[in-house]
Amino acid sequence: MAKKKVKKAKAKTKAAAKKVVKLKAKKPAAKKAVANGLPRPSGKPFGQAGKALDGVKILDFTHVQSGPTCTQLLAWLGADCIKVERPGVGDITRTQLRDVKGADSLYFTMLNHNKRSITIDSKHATGKQILDRLIKHCDVLVENFAPGALDRMGLTWEYIHKLNPRMIVASVKGFGPGPYEECKVYENVAQCTGGSASTTGFRDGPPLVTGAQIGDSGTGLHLALGIVSALYQRNRTGRGQRVLCAMQDGVLNLARVKLRDQQRLKHGPLTEFSQYGEGIPFGEATPRAGNDSGGGQPGWILKCKGWETDPNAYIYFITQAPVWEAICDLIGKPEWKTDPDYAKPPARLPRLKAIFATIEEWTMTKTKFEVMDLCNAKDIPVGPILSMKEIAEEPSLRKTGTVVEVDHPTRGAYLTVGNPIKLSDSITEVKRSPLLGEHTEEILTKVLGYSAKELAEIKTSGAITPPEKPAKAEAA
Ligand code: COA
Repeated sequence: MAKKKVKKAKAKTKAAAKKVVKLKAKKPAAKKAVANGLPRPSGKPFGQAGKALDGVKILDFTHVQSGPTCTQLLAWLGADCIKVERPGVGDITRTQLRDVKGADSLYFTMLNHNKRSITIDSKHATGKQILDRLIKHCDVLVENFAPGALDRMGLTWEYIHKLNPRMIVASVKGFGPGPYEECKVYENVAQCTGGSASTTGFRDGPPLVTGAQIGDSGTGLHLALGIVSALYQRNRTGRGQRVLCAMQDGVLNLARVKLRDQQRLKHGPLTEFSQYGEGIPFGEATPRAGNDSGGGQPGWILKCKGWETDPNAYIYFITQAPVWEAICDLIGKPEWKTDPDYAKPPARLPRLKAIFATIEEWTMTKTKFEVMDLCNAKDIPVGPILSMKEIAEEPSLRKTGTVVEVDHPTRGAYLTVGNPIKLSDSITEVKRSPLLGEHTEEILTKVLGYSAKELAEIKTSGAITPPEKPAKAEAA
């Protein structure tokens, strides 16, 4: 009996030892699977493991350009972007600058790819209930209404945060807190108040706005970074936060080199500005510098062959110091390499206008593309002025997906700018913009879980349909 007990006990100990061994053997494998607390690297080939922002749900209350730029970027990166639009009206840009009768404008289609559209009257009682469900469902609410408009809909930060403490509420406004915070703002207002216009143009001309939409699209881009950062922080804190990008701030951020120059003025003239070489005194503020380079290497726009008839037969030419000797040889001025008036950068500064005039005599004998090829062979940085036509037709931009042709059910094929941010494991597919309210039913039933009966009630409530026009009085 006693022997049996001992045998049993020994067997138990052996089994326990085996278990321990088993456990010990498992540990390192588990460690391998979760390195630094992160999931194991995907075994799928690059580009086939989903998108960067898969699973992120955006309640998109944006309109016009700044907000839609932001949410389009997030949608390209994989977020499910649900665009809320006013029934029967939609984003105002759907009908602005229309080129094809009855179809959504390019203004709209080019800013709203990869999104779904739901129409909701946000001031209707039933509409508000639907919005509450969307707020609970989504991760981020993005809006760029006029100051106070979201609050007037009842969607204050406190209200949203109570419904969904994880919600990130991201806004574009014209100005941050201060004297102008209540103002409505469009692109050029931001360019003017953010320091861009006062520093753009020629010294003897008025301030100029630029063609690039640095106020709208630039701020949308800033906002997208703010949102992604807030999502990242939420992983740690578990709670959402407000993200604000003021257009004035966004433009100023892009014009920061001009604030740099403002402070340099205290210590003497800005020697790289052609104004210095022309002996024209500087005033109190950073002046407009024409086509002077914003950096430390002098540059200017020069005519090329055909400039008399082609408004874009020009090239930006940079006299970068390390390749100065190569420039001298190329333009047929080898004597400048040793001439004390030209050999060193400080000696050239007061002569920049004349130097560029001499280089231009050379560039005018070649097309802008010939200058590009000849200069780049010698590492001389130059930039041909490309027209939008040339950009649209450039095969390499089509190949990289920077310029994309998209089909659309009512307007047909059109060109658009694809995602300029290239990720090797999150490939962008540019999908057409949604028609107004195209996904209303789909979102109500499949995303928010309304039953067929509830859907019918919502439809008759008037919350998702345009208000009915009053019936015409019958002729007596
Ligand atoms: N249901 C019901 N009402 C809706 C709605 C919906 N789905 N969507 C919008 N509205 C209402 C708003 O509540 C607001 O009403 P309210 O003023 O009575 O409160 C109204 O539509 C208009 O919104 P608003 O933002 O004032 O539009 P606007 O056309 O008058 O102004 C801007 C346009 C761009 C000037 C302004 O929105 C703005 O300054 N935005 C911030 C800065 C910005 O992004 N500017 C650049 C745009 S590219």
